[in-house]
Amino acid sequence: MTTISLPRLRERIETLARFGALPGGGVTRSAWSPPHEEARAWLIGEIRAAGLDPWVDAAGNIFGGLGMSAFDAARPAVVTGSHIDTVPEGGILDGALGVLAGLEALHTIQESGDPHTRPLAVAAWSDEEGRYGSLFGSRAFCGKLEAARLPEMAASDGERLVDAMTRAGFDAMRSPEAAAPEGSVAAYVELHIEQGPRLEEAGIPIGTVEAIVGVRRSWVVFIGQADHAGTTPMERRRDGFLAAAEFALKARDLVVKRGSGRSVTNFGVVHVHPAVGNIVPARGELLHEMREPDPAVLDRLARECVTLAKRVARRRQVQVEFRPVSATMPAPCAPRVQAAIDAAAADLGLATQHMYSAAGHDAQNLAAVTDAGMIFIPSKGGRSHRVDEMSDWEAIERGANVLLRTLIALAN
Ligand code: GLV
Ligand code: MN
Ligand code: MN
Repeated sequence: MTTISLPRLRERIETLARFGALPGGGVTRSAWSPPHEEARAWLIGEIRAAGLDPWVDAAGNIFGGLGMSAFDAARPAVVTGSHIDTVPEGGILDGALGVLAGLEALHTIQESGDPHTRPLAVAAWSDEEGRYGSLFGSRAFCGKLEAARLPEMAASDGERLVDAMTRAGFDAMRSPEAAAPEGSVAAYVELHIEQGPRLEEAGIPIGTVEAIVGVRRSWVVFIGQADHAGTTPMERRRDGFLAAAEFALKARDLVVKRGSGRSVTNFGVVHVHPAVGNIVPARGELLHEMREPDPAVLDRLARECVTLAKRVARRRQVQVEFRPVSATMPAPCAPRVQAAIDAAAADLGLATQHMYSAAGHDAQNLAAVTDAGMIFIPSKGGRSHRVDEMSDWEAIERGANVLLRTLIALAN
């Protein structure tokens, strides 16, 4: 039975972890940043060294092909991959695992000479973490990028996508050209750490993903009136921050009480203006995120949060504005890919648990154009999007071997 090389995979994971490494562990490798660009160049070298054909598309997606050097509907490919950008102060496996295990799987197939009727490719999708636009590269590849929105897409620090991509040598306005020909992907499977505690707590080595949550982000901006923080009587203040704070707490309760039990919400960015101690804040701005695997529930919660924000604003005599940032659709995984993962795990004597993904992934874009699925391995302590994110090396080896066997099955 052909198996992957854990020492080679581990070496690559540890090398990639050095690009954007933080002194206390973990990594900051934001999309299009200098460490990210250095990592991209390194990855292209590794793809070549593995005997695969590298190429880069207009959205900055990197590919390594085995038996292919472009997408072609006449020869549909089986694709694997993930992303090498990270959240700020993130871990070394979120994304990196799927890219490097995919590369290792294709490297193994290439060396073994095992036959595969379909060509294979590993992808590193651009800006999965949504610094400038959520799941950017895979969205472009799947033909879902809205060209008209590109000029206004910006990071939460205000930097525009067009400027970040120009610095990295890309023309953002051309990124829709990354759309793959219809029918050129026969199947997609992505290996990822679970990023939550369910597999570890159940003692199950492999998760077969059945569905991926939809993620909605929008700015909710409360606009009151700046005033002297000492002389303005408390009852006359129209404080934009306090309206935002009340909304955040109430939205949290709303999502917990009226959601599906799987619904979650987060306020990850808060801006107060003018941000000084002796002025009542005129504005409170919140980046509001909601996630849920059922599209109807997600829609309903989004509507109810808008009503709630308006009610809070009215009572506090401030205005409220909503600025949608991104919305990904919940996506079911293909039964055919789930079955291939289950069979691959069974061949290796590994138990699987069927589960939904509470994190967003490029696979949810691919699910709109092909049969897509995901393999999860346990995350230590369920930790992710933090510097101490990790999985056991044995778990990584198991996941990569399940990926290898799944790819071989899908390619034949
Ligand atoms: C991607 O990591 C996400 O935010 O779910
Ligand atoms: Mn990820
Ligand atoms: Mn992530």
